[in-house]
Amino acid sequence: MIVKPDRNIALEMVRATEAAAMAASKWMGRGDKEGVDGAAVNAMRFMLNTVHMEGIVVIGEGEKDEAPMLFNGERLGFGNDPKIDIAVDPIDGTRLAANGLPNAVSVVAFADRGSMFDPKHIFYMEKIATGPGAAKAIDINAPISENIKSVAKALGKRPDDVTVVALDRPRHEKLIQEIRDTHARLRLIMDGDVAGALATCKPNTGIDLLVGIGGSPEAVITACAIKCVGGNMQCKLWPRNEEEVKKCEEEGMDLNKVLKLNDLVSSDNVYFAATGVTDGDWLDGVKYLGDTIQTSSLVMRSRSGTIRYITAEHQLKKLQRLGGPEY
Ligand code: FBP
Repeated sequence: MIVKPDRNIALEMVRATEAAAMAASKWMGRGDKEGVDGAAVNAMRFMLNTVHMEGIVVIGEGEKDEAPMLFNGERLGFGNDPKIDIAVDPIDGTRLAANGLPNAVSVVAFADRGSMFDPKHIFYMEKIATGPGAAKAIDINAPISENIKSVAKALGKRPDDVTVVALDRPRHEKLIQEIRDTHARLRLIMDGDVAGALATCKPNTGIDLLVGIGGSPEAVITACAIKCVGGNMQCKLWPRNEEEVKKCEEEGMDLNKVLKLNDLVSSDNVYFAATGVTDGDWLDGVKYLGDTIQTSSLVMRSRSGTIRYITAEHQLKKLQRLGGPEY
């Protein structure tokens, strides 16, 4: 069936990630995670409320560490159609931004109402993600050595030339050892597995595979991004304790189920926008250039597959006159 081009709300989304990134980057390196997050949340909420939509935050962020948050169930936008599920991560890599380290990004994803997976009380998921070149080569149930071999084969590389990205966490001790045993290259990151997964999807970052346990909200947001760029991701719920396991049983959540892209976000009309806060593998960070602030963003839509790169120059004085977030 031919679908005619329709309204694309991508630009409206990117205004929100730009605003969040600019507001947060004022706090860069001050060592204040709450300050970074609070500035980003307020700016993002302000801009998303200007969008003509009936949006509901399905994937909010902040509950895990009691940080400032756009909470689950919060309604955003003017309240008219389209009806949208929203996943937000005003800053993925709050600690990175607070320390002035690379790869902090502001991200938001939209999809048709009812199409985003709700991880409920499960804060973490096991994840494996890769870009379009090796999309068919990953299997979350296979050992990491097998995944590295099959990704290498798909990409025409030797297994020891594959670069894997994983969060540097004690819970990954065994996984890290298994990766090292394969002699694959490993990049351990302090935070930011959304940017880590995205890096696998961009040609020439040299990063091929993201693995490990990270946040559930970030998993759904990453799935939205990957649905747009065409890579692949698989996840499994990762309860932290018996209490969470029990709750899963009560709620009928299957801990053995492999959550594929379509389970994480079922719509084929998904939007994703990101703006760099600090310099990263895919996007440059916010730059203060005197009278202007420069931002680098990307925005994409799964239906068309179009990826737009937007470098924006924001006029500081004019923005201040308009009111809204502080930059
Ligand atoms: P925030 O910056 O949004 O707090 O998330 C950072 C992050 O590293 C995510 O990218 C990742 O999914 C999650 O935290 C991992 O959680 P934890 O730090 O508890 O291991």
